[in-house]
Amino acid sequence: MTATRPPLACLIGWPAAHSRSPLIHHYWLRTLGIEGGYVIEAVPPDDFRDFILRLSFRGFVGANVTRPHKELALALSKPDARAQAVGAANTLWFKDGELCSTNTDVEGFIGNLDASAPGWDGCEEALVLGAGGASRAVLFGLLDRGIKCVHLANRTRERADSLAKQFGDRIHPVAWEQVGELLPRAHLLVNTTSLGMHGQPALEIDVGRLPPNAVVADLVYVPLETPLLTAARARELKTADGLGMLLHQAVRGFELWFGKRPQVTDELRALVEADLTSV
Ligand code: ATR
Repeated sequence: MTATRPPLACLIGWPAAHSRSPLIHHYWLRTLGIEGGYVIEAVPPDDFRDFILRLSFRGFVGANVTRPHKELALALSKPDARAQAVGAANTLWFKDGELCSTNTDVEGFIGNLDASAPGWDGCEEALVLGAGGASRAVLFGLLDRGIKCVHLANRTRERADSLAKQFGDRIHPVAWEQVGELLPRAHLLVNTTSLGMHGQPALEIDVGRLPPNAVVADLVYVPLETPLLTAARARELKTADGLGMLLHQAVRGFELWFGKRPQVTDELRALVEADLTSV
C-alpha cells in the first residue's frame, strides 16, 4: 500500500527574509481544511539551480521564489506570458511533470484593484510611477485589462523609455517632472516606486489635482497606510493598498499547489496586519 503524502510547497529565498507567505498559506490550509504544508527554504545562489532541478525529488509540489532567484527561476522553467513580460518568475508548479512558472504580482495587483475599487478599469488614462520590476507587472496587468493610455514616469527616464519599447504604444514614457501636469488626467494613479516606504523619502504628489473619481493604488505596504493613501482617502478617493496586493498575489500559488482557490478575507488581512505591525 502506498501512502500519499500531503502536498508541500515552499518559499525559496536568500537570505530567507521574514516572509508573510507561510502565515497566509497556513491560514488558508487551516480554514479550508486542507492537509498540506508550506515551509521556508534558505537557498544560496550557488545552490539554487540544483535545488530547483530536484524540487519534486525533494518532495515539493511547487514553490514561491523571492530575491535573488526570480530571474534564474524564469530561466529554469517554462514561463507563461506574465512571467516572460515581467522578466521574473515568483511561482512554480508542475504540470504533466514539467516545471511551469508565472508571475503572480500581475494578478495580485489586478485582483486587489477589482476587490478594492470595482469598475476601476473603466478609466481611459492611467499614470504609473516607477519603471522597476514591480512596474512591469503593473503595466502587463493594465494593458491586459484594456487600459488605452498609460503614462509612465520614472526618475531615470531611460528605464521608462525601455519599458515603453517592450510593452508597446499604449505606454507613454514621460519625464518625472511632468507628473504634476498629468495628474488632472489620471483616473488611475499607481505608485510602484519605493517612495513613501518606511525609511525612504516621501512621494511628493498633490492628490488634490487628480480627477474627483480617481483611484489611487500604492504598492508600498510598510507602512500599511502610506502618506499617498492617507491623502487620497482624505479626498474620499478609492484606494488599493500594497498589503491587498500581497494577499491577492498569493491566491494563484495556493490554487495551483493545493487545488482550491482561496479567498482574501478580512480575517486574513487582520492576521497579516497584526504580524506586520508587531515588528
Ligand atoms: P521593484 O522591483 O520593487 O520595482 P526596483 O526595480 O529597484 O524595485 O525599482 C525601484 C523604483 O523606485 C524605480 O522606478 C526607481 O527609480 P529609478 O529607476 O530612477 O532608480 C524608483 N525610486 C527609488 N527611489 C526613488 C527616488 N528617491 N525618487 C524617485 N524614484 C525612486
